[in-house]
Amino acid sequence: MSERYCVIGNPIAHSKSPEIHAAFARQTGQDMLYERCLAPLDGFEASVRALVAAGYGGANVTVPFKLQAADLADRLTERARAAGAVNTLMFNSSGGIIGDNTDGAGLVGDITRNAGVSLEGKRVLLLGAGGAARGAVLPLLAALPAELTIANRTLATADALVERFTSQLAQDQRLAACAFDDIAGQYDVVVNATSASLADAMPPVPAGAFGPGTLALDMMYGKAPTRFMQFAASCGAATRDGLGMLVEQAAEAFLLWRGARPDTAEILDRLRLAV
Ligand code: ATR
Repeated sequence: MSERYCVIGNPIAHSKSPEIHAAFARQTGQDMLYERCLAPLDGFEASVRALVAAGYGGANVTVPFKLQAADLADRLTERARAAGAVNTLMFNSSGGIIGDNTDGAGLVGDITRNAGVSLEGKRVLLLGAGGAARGAVLPLLAALPAELTIANRTLATADALVERFTSQLAQDQRLAACAFDDIAGQYDVVVNATSASLADAMPPVPAGAFGPGTLALDMMYGKAPTRFMQFAASCGAATRDGLGMLVEQAAEAFLLWRGARPDTAEILDRLRLAV
């Protein structure tokens, strides 16, 4: 019997994960099924236990259950612990649940592999200090930028992230927090990890943060470029939405479950046409 996986969330109908994983399975010749699973808002744990009992190999977790998934797991990977959230569950044969987080690795993979931008020695600006930003900090630092600045509307939350990750810095690496008003100078890479795009808004980043050499990436995606992407483009930056990150985090999960890394370029091109 082929092994079964799913993406679990609420709502879930819009999820592109089944299409992405089906393409990965075809490409790598893996025999697996991947479905959508709608969990009741008060029934995440029961839904996961039912998947384990039914012999599933694992599950991706999406909104609003990523924090609950971290609580539920018997063991967390280092990056899941650092993120405080889980987007990938692995069920082992003895019923144990391992929680991982592939979102940050997906972000870095999209920047370095798909966009072809090295982060090493660069100035990187991360906008936001919520769950999405927190998951990105460790993978971004591991790509060895010279500086990572976290800007947030609520400065205290950005300060707390800096405090949390200061011990993880490489030599000569700088990690700082600031308010949007205090963002100074141009950045090589600007990542919008705020949820502002969901409300068709954008964080108040100064135009000077962007220039012709800047890559501006919004973790969100949609039919049209987000306000953040439009603003960054008007300042001369190259822009990317979150679709590449979505495909890359899926590839990381697939690798974990199946031991094979799919080629993401083909499916990313296909999804881009369908968005
Ligand atoms: P997520 O899981 O998507 O990160 P979250 O944990 O609720 O969601 O965090 C949302 C982030 O977007 C926060 O950094 C939030 O800023 P505050 O900490 O000040 O609340 C940020 N955010 C949301 N809307 C924003 C807006 N219109 N402008 C700037 N930042 C915004």
